[in-house]
Amino acid sequence: MRRRWCVTGGAGFIGSHFVERLLADEDTAEVVAYDNLSNTTTRWIEPLLTDPRLSFVHADILDTGRLAGELTGWSAADVVVHLASSVDMRRGYHDRGLDLRQCADGTLSVLNAMRETGPRTVLFASSSTVYGDPLVLPTPESAGPYAPISMYGAGKLAAEALLSAFCHLDGFTAHAFRFGNVVGARMNHGVIHDFIEKLGDREDRLHILGDGRQRKNYFLVEECVDGILTASGLLGEGFHVLNLGNAGTVSVDEIAAVVIEEMGLTGVKQVHEGGTRGWPGDVPVVEYDLARLHALGWSARTDCLSAVRICARRLLAERGWRRP
Ligand SMILES: NC(=O)c1ccc[n+]([C@@H]2O[C@H](COP(=O)([O-])OP(=O)(O)OC[C@H]3O[C@@H](n4cnc5c(N)ncnc54)[C@H](O)[C@@H]3O)[C@@H](O)[C@H]2O)c1
Repeated sequence: MRRRWCVTGGAGFIGSHFVERLLADEDTAEVVAYDNLSNTTTRWIEPLLTDPRLSFVHADILDTGRLAGELTGWSAADVVVHLASSVDMRRGYHDRGLDLRQCADGTLSVLNAMRETGPRTVLFASSSTVYGDPLVLPTPESAGPYAPISMYGAGKLAAEALLSAFCHLDGFTAHAFRFGNVVGARMNHGVIHDFIEKLGDREDRLHILGDGRQRKNYFLVEECVDGILTASGLLGEGFHVLNLGNAGTVSVDEIAAVVIEEMGLTGVKQVHEGGTRGWPGDVPVVEYDLARLHALGWSARTDCLSAVRICARRLLAERGWRRP
């Protein structure tokens, strides 16, 4: 079926990959990339604008009227991919309203714009942070008590609750994908990016936030997009949550070793700062139970450690890094 797609956060890291993938599908009738450019530039979306099916809208999701204007005339079969949000957990520590404005109010605004217009399906970028410090590892979707330990996690959980309510009240279909760490080219945040930046500034020393033993799930952005599109075709109507990632974990110290090796550096002194958490609100272990995802017949092809290495190579290539 030929569909129209609106991707909020469409100029960002995951968003621009999502848009690219949609445009590669001839069944895509139109794509609107909607982004306020608060955490990106038009750098990744501009080359895609040669495709007449794509338009870029520079606007905020909190502007419900503007978003509704873009969706006017769209049908129930058209889809909103809702990726726009704050992504900096540490900023949310200092500004306690940021994540609620961006995740909860922002999602409410997107849902209200959809309610005023046509689309009835929304695919949402949620996060492992909704689990807080999980009581069960690997963590299944049903693992309570859903006690986030960051404002970012609280905002994502609030957004999931709003999606669920709109499904019940207005017959929406909402799929909330709880991503692990998504990695790849175009990233401007996250541990691999940070290590490359730090080592680019100073090659003999690496400051590592936390004790280095935090271990989490890392998977490639193209696999994230593929997982969302495949699973959303199978999950069915109504509200569904799904862990999306690959099996296992990689530790922060292992990531440091990969980045140092890929940069061709030797003798780097690694200095750990802080305790078991990298920052207030950091969850030291993120490991998913992926039974529900695998039961849909989809699994990521690339393991965590390979995903980290591939991401490091892509980011270094973007920077034109030359090994010393
Ligand atoms: N990258 C990950 O590892 C990861 C993990 C879990 C969840 N997520 C979620 O995936 C989504 C995409 O994240 P990303 O990693 O691509 O980060 P990103 O910052 O590159 O993407 C978010 C985009 O949204 C835009 N944006 C922010 N606030 C906006 C607003 N109010 N109105 C319009 N646009 C706005 C930003 O400019 C940015 O382009 C986010 O919702 C994030 O919380 C990402």
